[in-house]
Amino acid sequence: TVQPLTDGFGRRFEYLRLSLTDVCNFRCSYCLPDGYRKAKGLSGDLSLAEIRRLLTAFATLGLWKVRLTGGEPTLREDFVDVARTVAAVPGITRVAMTTNGYRLVERAASYAEAGVSAINISIDSLDAARFADITGHDRLAEVLAGVEAARAAGFSTIKLNCVLMRGVNADEVGALVDFAAERDLSLRFIEVMRTNDNPDFYAQRHVGAELVTSLLDRRGWSRLPRRAGDGPAIEYGRSDARGRVGVIAPYSRDFCATCNRLRVSSRGKLHLCLFGDAGIDVRPLLESDDQHDDLVARLRALTMTKAAAHHLHEGSSGGTANLSAIGG
Ligand code: GTP
Ligand code: 5AD
Ligand code: SF4
Repeated sequence: TVQPLTDGFGRRFEYLRLSLTDVCNFRCSYCLPDGYRKAKGLSGDLSLAEIRRLLTAFATLGLWKVRLTGGEPTLREDFVDVARTVAAVPGITRVAMTTNGYRLVERAASYAEAGVSAINISIDSLDAARFADITGHDRLAEVLAGVEAARAAGFSTIKLNCVLMRGVNADEVGALVDFAAERDLSLRFIEVMRTNDNPDFYAQRHVGAELVTSLLDRRGWSRLPRRAGDGPAIEYGRSDARGRVGVIAPYSRDFCATCNRLRVSSRGKLHLCLFGDAGIDVRPLLESDDQHDDLVARLRALTMTKAAAHHLHEGSSGGTANLSAIGG
């Protein structure tokens, strides 16, 4: 048995968020409002062999859950092969993905078939005009049809992600909760985070998750006890609902204390945190299978250097341009 992957504060890491590309085809107001600057392009992302080596090393360290993120991960033409490759790594028992839902209608079944068992879909509004304003694409109907396709495809977990925005969708919290509960889906509200790209947007639109938790209290949802391995989200349940409602409130004081995740960018940089961290290039250790032991030792040593917290609640914007390169 391996010694678990831990940091200097005793946090354990069994969960990796792997960004497959920083390219995205949406232009979400809080993330990439001007669209993706295409110059960097889809080339230069980790190859299937590099991904296999990376995850084989992490699995040796006891990591078992991988979430495929982006940008929009499905823009990679070999997305299904990536999912299959990840799912085939011995020790990786849960492959999840986060998507904007683009083309989910046609492709949900192929993702499930490739071994993805959990899917998070971004839906910031149930109103078509608002959805178009937020994402830059008038595609709410397709994305909602994609949610139905995901339900039909048999994922074990489907979660909707909603970024809470004052004056944009804050009045839809109740409607979103009902929408998810009626379909046995889980739902997560995420506070807008300030990045280098969006300080004005943040100042205008950020609203605290108490808006959600007070509504949940009024409607008979109760806070669920934390289970071993749970991450920073605070989750609520109700006896008649199979799905859960969660909030990510990164400006709350102890948010980082329960961090359970590491991140690797599509170019092979290890990010110990979403913020305040330029990333450490581990790609030179992904060139051949012979480097496995060195990679394992390096990942273990680097994880020990993870900072205690990102200090967002103290006014830091953490130096991150936007979240598309690190997958949120
Ligand atoms: P699961 O527990 O695997 O479902 O993870 P999740 O709900 O965190 O995954 P998802 O990709 O749906 O995350 C939703 C969003 O929450 C991300 O895109 C980020 O914006 C935010 N988020 C997730 N984890 C963290 C974190 O550790 N720190 C901060 N500040 N934000 C996070
Ligand atoms: N603040 C909060 N969440 C963000 N995301 C991207 N940028 C931000 C930000 N500035 C997250 C959203 C979206 C996911 C793909 O990335 O949760 O659903
Ligand atoms: Fe694309 Fe996701 Fe960013 Fe929206 S939040 S622009 S879907 S990466």
